[in-house]
Amino acid sequence: MDHSAKTAPIAARPLTSRRGQSALTGRIRVPGDKSISHRALMFGALAEGETRITGLLEGEDVLRTADAMRALGAEVTQLGNGHWHVRGQGRGKLQEPKDVLDMGNSGTAARLICGILASHPIFAVLTGDGSLRSRPMKRVTDPLSGTGARFASRAGGRLPLAIEGTATPSPLHYRLPVASAQVKSAILLAGLNAEGETVVEEPEATRDHTENMLRHFGATVAVEVQGHGRVVRLQGKPSLTAADIVVPGDPSSAAFPIVAALIVPGSAVTIENIGLNPLRTGLFTTLQDMGADLTIANERIEGGEPVGDLILRAGPLQAVEVPRSRVPSMVDEFPVLAVAAAFAHGTSRFLGLSELRVKESDRLAATAALLTVNGITVEIEGDDLIIHGSGGAAPAGGGTVETHMDHRIAMSALVLGLATQAPVTVDDAAFIETSFPKFVELMHGLGADIGAA
Ligand code: S3P
Repeated sequence: MDHSAKTAPIAARPLTSRRGQSALTGRIRVPGDKSISHRALMFGALAEGETRITGLLEGEDVLRTADAMRALGAEVTQLGNGHWHVRGQGRGKLQEPKDVLDMGNSGTAARLICGILASHPIFAVLTGDGSLRSRPMKRVTDPLSGTGARFASRAGGRLPLAIEGTATPSPLHYRLPVASAQVKSAILLAGLNAEGETVVEEPEATRDHTENMLRHFGATVAVEVQGHGRVVRLQGKPSLTAADIVVPGDPSSAAFPIVAALIVPGSAVTIENIGLNPLRTGLFTTLQDMGADLTIANERIEGGEPVGDLILRAGPLQAVEVPRSRVPSMVDEFPVLAVAAAFAHGTSRFLGLSELRVKESDRLAATAALLTVNGITVEIEGDDLIIHGSGGAAPAGGGTVETHMDHRIAMSALVLGLATQAPVTVDDAAFIETSFPKFVELMHGLGADIGAA
């Protein structure tokens, strides 16, 4: 799946979605949460004993993490159907990898592994595909250098990156300059092998799966809420003990069938077992603000995380203004929210999207382009995205969308094409494999028309 110039080019996989004869209907489940899946494998590798995982996302990104954990000495076994076992030697016991660790398309894998390796006395080299090699890593390597670890990278802190970890890491006290759960997690993971307390201050609360799962494995993590933000304190050198993990359905993956169900007239869809961690549900709040017929049923706690079923019916949507304070709780959902906004009555404004510029693609530009090429009027003002809704009428469609190695741009464009006048084509759907294997098959099950260009 490496579409970089370095390796032999793999043929791009174009795909087209079309407005069908009928509505979308059915009851589905989406794959496991990507953030929780990465962490389950990593923390299982850091803990002593056998961690048993169910519901793991078996997408390309997470498989790269599984390979990396094996290369670092953990026993990682795929038993089938999302069921995995990880056997680790205990905190601080990872081994030096014999080869370069290739993290594929995954920023989460690369950044969290930088944190883990900073406080192990081993040498490692990380690389990734063309998208990952263009993404900023200084946001983790600069603060992590404070542990005593050394990093050498390409210009601008880009991968490939060499890490020389330290046997005697200093604990960090770091205030995040950007709202990033990846950076927060990297600092906390480095702190596992440091003497004393590691502190991360985040001005805006970001997803807290690292904090929750570290506690689940036996670490002491205290969290103090301060305004919109939090102060997280980890006690160094905990005993980490294997623990079972149940991975809920990924709300960020559910976002695609959710928006499809809302914009294809007459649709009625239920999506079961979705993670409802409050730091991940900004999209659901926003869609409800837009007047979407979205209800949450059967709320319960499973494997320590809140989960529930989402019941959706198509209907009119109103424009919405998304405040910048809500961005971290839906940071990956803006491309598909933009698709919903394209059908709304009025002009929507999404504020403060600077972080979208450093995702798998420049998602701010790619989202604007995906709508523009399909006849929807959008503007980018600074870091804000403004979308002029069609007032419920079907937008023109007919465009070919450049996905820029970005799974979420590909899936958003395919959702758009299910309700536009003319079909929408994506230049390359291959990257959907990173987070949502079987996306197309699952949408077929609801009645969607997605197929060869
Ligand atoms: C993730 C955090 C987010 C998100 C990414 C997964 C994580 O990135 O975009 O898909 O698992 O911690 P940032 O924290 O860098 O915004």
